[in-house]
Amino acid sequence: MDMNVRPESMARIQTAEQAEAFIAEQVAAVREQVGDKQVLLALSGGVDSSVVAALLIKAIGKQLVCVHVNHGLMRKGESEMVIEVFRNQMDANLIYVDATDRFLDLLAGVSDPETKRKIIGGEFIKVFDEEAHKLGNIPFLAQGTIYPDILESDGVKAHHNVGGLPEDMEFELVEPVKLLYKDEVRVVGEALGLPHDMVYRQPFPGPGLGVRCLGAITRDRLHALREADAILREEFDKNGLAGKVWQYFIAVPDFKSVGVKDGKRYEGWPAIIRAVNTTDAMSATIEEVPYDLLHHITARITSEVDGINRVLMDLTPKPVGTIEWE
Ligand code: XMP
Repeated sequence: MDMNVRPESMARIQTAEQAEAFIAEQVAAVREQVGDKQVLLALSGGVDSSVVAALLIKAIGKQLVCVHVNHGLMRKGESEMVIEVFRNQMDANLIYVDATDRFLDLLAGVSDPETKRKIIGGEFIKVFDEEAHKLGNIPFLAQGTIYPDILESDGVKAHHNVGGLPEDMEFELVEPVKLLYKDEVRVVGEALGLPHDMVYRQPFPGPGLGVRCLGAITRDRLHALREADAILREEFDKNGLAGKVWQYFIAVPDFKSVGVKDGKRYEGWPAIIRAVNTTDAMSATIEEVPYDLLHHITARITSEVDGINRVLMDLTPKPVGTIEWE
């Protein structure tokens, strides 16, 4: 039997009972596969790697070594959430690497989107590789590969993504959710006790805020973007849009316009709101965000975030616009 093909008889995991049965089966399989050896995992805090981490913590506890690389391009509070959930609540063996300066120094002055992606992806591999070498010979690598990754690619988790790993690393892979669809991974994640916010997190590009801080990234503009994005998320949460809208975020371009603040001329960047719905990210429609909420978000961002003096709404569906701005 091809281990990468989902058997037709496999029922979709939809209930907590089905999730429990899947977890019990995978816990046994992982224990059988790895014995008393250590397993390494790049834990981004995304849905798939988080669910794999929780599953492996249940199966092998501290034999799992999670490495969370903060590339400095995370949304506000996300690295902190990874530490809180995995180190503090689940007592995981978690190595936290704050590599912000390394990434931002390399990205300084780089404005081409694909070059930015390459730098972020390449540096991620380097940082992870360095951590792996410090740990010595760990024979197993866990990955949050899910079934669509296998159907869409050659079975290795998202090459285009931050999280692709060096080809010369000789690991045996541990991929406990590789036959599951995303909705099933979420049900399993909830059964494992992960927070709802983490399990239902919206998709977030591997290069993170790096492709939303448009053009050459600067620390001040990145900070403004992160704060504005946090306000957008907070308001969508409070107003019932968080569970409804597929993906929403702020992008901040690298130009300023003239404004007035506290009676004085104030040059600032615009914050652009993007809120889209889609099923497969190939095409997307625009969420009709109520105008009173847009006014409220505009007032908050322009008064609370240093450097922002206008808020714009992107009304462009995909096509023609892609979901991300770069
Ligand atoms: P676009 O912008 O192509 O995005 O309409 C479609 C979906 O893919 C996400 N995206 C990325 N994900 N690495 C990722 O892991 C990337 O470089 C990347 N670029 C776009 C985007 O957020 C949307 O969900």
